Amino acid sequence: MTVQTVSTRPFTDQKPGTSGLRKQVPTFQKPHYLQNFVQSIFDSLEGYQGQTLVVGGDGRYYNREAIQIILKMAAANGFGRVLVGQGGILSTPAVSCIIRKYQAFGGIILSASHNPGGPDGDFGIKYNTGNGGPAPENVTDAIFARTKVIDQYRILDVSDVDLDRIATTNLGNTRIEVIDAVTDYAALMEALFDFDLIQQFITGGNFRLCIDSLHAVTGPYAKAIFERRLNAPAGTVQNGEPLEDFGGGHPDPNLVYAKDLVKVLFGDNAPDFGAASDGDGDRNMILGRHFFVTPSDSLAVLAANATLVPGYREGLAGIARSMPTSQAPDRVAAKLGIDCYETPTGWKFFGNLLDAGKATLCGEESFGTGSNHVREKDGLWAVLFWLNILAVRKQSVEAIVKEHWAIYGRNIYCRHDYEGVDSDRANTLMGNLRAAVGTMAGKSFGQYQVDYADDFSYTDPIDGSVSQKQGIRIGFKDGSRIVFRLSGTGTQGATLRVYLERYEADPAKHDQDTQVALADLIQLAEEIAQIKEWTGRDRPTVIT
Ligand code: G1P
Ligand code: ZN
Repeated sequence: MTVQTVSTRPFTDQKPGTSGLRKQVPTFQKPHYLQNFVQSIFDSLEGYQGQTLVVGGDGRYYNREAIQIILKMAAANGFGRVLVGQGGILSTPAVSCIIRKYQAFGGIILSASHNPGGPDGDFGIKYNTGNGGPAPENVTDAIFARTKVIDQYRILDVSDVDLDRIATTNLGNTRIEVIDAVTDYAALMEALFDFDLIQQFITGGNFRLCIDSLHAVTGPYAKAIFERRLNAPAGTVQNGEPLEDFGGGHPDPNLVYAKDLVKVLFGDNAPDFGAASDGDGDRNMILGRHFFVTPSDSLAVLAANATLVPGYREGLAGIARSMPTSQAPDRVAAKLGIDCYETPTGWKFFGNLLDAGKATLCGEESFGTGSNHVREKDGLWAVLFWLNILAVRKQSVEAIVKEHWAIYGRNIYCRHDYEGVDSDRANTLMGNLRAAVGTMAGKSFGQYQVDYADDFSYTDPIDGSVSQKQGIRIGFKDGSRIVFRLSGTGTQGATLRVYLERYEADPAKHDQDTQVALADLIQLAEEIAQIKEWTGRDRPTVIT
């Protein structure tokens, strides 16, 4: 068993995005490509000798190969122990849970989240720190800097580890423990939620639910928790086998890509509740019978009802939402007399607030919700939170949301995505907006008067770090908002995201169709940004 030191040359495209390094599979399969990045992670860390590393992924194509490489490199670089999920499987929130529970030094997650998988699909790798959360920008910057100069990596020359058997083996001086992927996570869920009450509720005969794992990582978790522990009928979890290509689908829980579930929940004889998760299990979509809950509203409803749930009975320290997320949670925070933080897009910005005890619940409009129980967003946690609230209140999802709107008003909200746009043209569109925002305040566009316009900049209240150019915000005097930003997770061309929001206090107007209610703002976004001209599209690719 020898440590090999392999000479290599830098790749110039290994800059981590919103959530780690994502590329198409063939890029990761290039000789040394993954190895360079993994060694750059290790080279950027200090003090991990003899410590524990957690490794797992969402089961997509290339997951197993990547894990074998990482295990051999972790051993060659001197980690004392590696915990790896059986079959190479660990959901993103489960990695976060396990890092925290076993006080690991950090973890490596193999996933491209909601991006499609398979030989021509996407792959990704992300490093999480000892608090269980995504590496902050100073760490990802250091990793990127290292990728630009790396000239060698260390790997053990040994045969592969059996990932399918729960067992402990040694690679050199490193203990490799293949662990059950679900147990620790399920125990954490049971500590937060009233499982007995939820079980009575979902087996009582008056409530039906349907969970769609979209052939991605949450299948084993959802089957263990909902079908085996909570006794929901067999078949409650659909598409529950993780597949390397997610069955050819796009494992993104929204109205477009989770269409099988949407069909069921909006069909005849629909169940009372439906939920879907994404590739790596950190996202969620919540549906009621013939009813869609926007992720922004979901965060607001969870916050307003948190004390009904055992894990949150003492109340919330604060709420945090990403900037483009609707302002619905702010209204709940104001009523509760707690702070609401507005952070840039990406879960990593919540880490400091959670660690400092300033926020308890966090959320993003992109189907991400979570809390201080881990340092990642958590899809099945959100589902259980909803089920706990439903089991206590015994009302429909729709009734709970509408009652919420009646109390707080409705932040009518949607996001328009223009995917696969030419990068130069998308950058020009953003550049034009950036140049224009400086002089926009006070201007009127029809009935809308601009209150403020800027390129969002965030100063972390804990460590003072500043993140600039996080998206163009145009806020109007009546509380409406248009936000423009480019995706940091795509792998082909650019994706323009346009976020639209209007506040409606009058309950008589709460039933309006979102696209109709936002039509003026949609038109205004077009006028201001010349979207058709620069994207070459006459409509968005995806509306959520
Ligand atoms: C997207 C979402 C963002 C989320 C990220 C990772 O990033 O918009 O909220 O944190 O995926 O799941 P984007 O592609 O917009 O940079
Ligand atoms: Zn994800």
